Amino acid sequence: MNYRIAPSILSADFARLGEEIRDVVAAGADIIHFDVMDNHYVPNLTIGPMVCEAIRPHTSAPIDVHLMVKPVDALAAMFAKAGADIITFHPEASEHVDRTLELIRDAGCKAGLVFNPATSLSYLDHVMDKIDMILIMSVNPGFGGQSFIPEALNKIRAARERIDAYTARTGREIWLEVDGGVKVDNIREVAAAGADTFVAGSAIYGKPDYKAVIDAMRAELAK
Ligand code: DX5
Ligand code: ZN
Repeated sequence: MNYRIAPSILSADFARLGEEIRDVVAAGADIIHFDVMDNHYVPNLTIGPMVCEAIRPHTSAPIDVHLMVKPVDALAAMFAKAGADIITFHPEASEHVDRTLELIRDAGCKAGLVFNPATSLSYLDHVMDKIDMILIMSVNPGFGGQSFIPEALNKIRAARERIDAYTARTGREIWLEVDGGVKVDNIREVAAAGADTFVAGSAIYGKPDYKAVIDAMRAELAK
């Protein structure tokens, strides 16, 4: 399995964001996870397309924009222009999920759906062909530093089954990302359930030595 570590800059020092991104990539990060909150879909407010554009020259790592916003389409288009590589959104926040997926892909980005702890995977039934990534939330969205909800493991297993069946039929790969409360001491269990891409905010940026944390995560994944 090709595993990817995606530090969430939500827990970075925003006053030194460019440096924080370069440091985490130098420490072994594969992807930069970029959390967008609008104080409407979720009760918190973070960063928008201007910040994405500002950090774009600081790294060649893919920028994985997680939209926790409603409505979705206008911001998705702005993030595609601002240099995002992957854009995911919560299906219940979009009036027309299929259209939003098309809009993201037509803008040249990979597209994905995000599932809250209580959101059914049935949103995937008719759009697998238009999805490049599935993101399973293992916390309720809105804040970093929350505890992993164990029931998410069943959701990850169910998503992995759908992806494997789809890939066996079509030959096309879909990434399975998990977001919320992922740490060195549970990453192995999350991988065993079927995840291949791991968001970690506080677990990485909350420690002084990013490389030590990412190395420890990779050591767990190699076990
Ligand atoms: C939560 C965000 C997460 C968050 C994860 O709404 O989507 O990406 O930054 O933070 P940790 O890893 O601290 O749970
Ligand atoms: Zn996120």
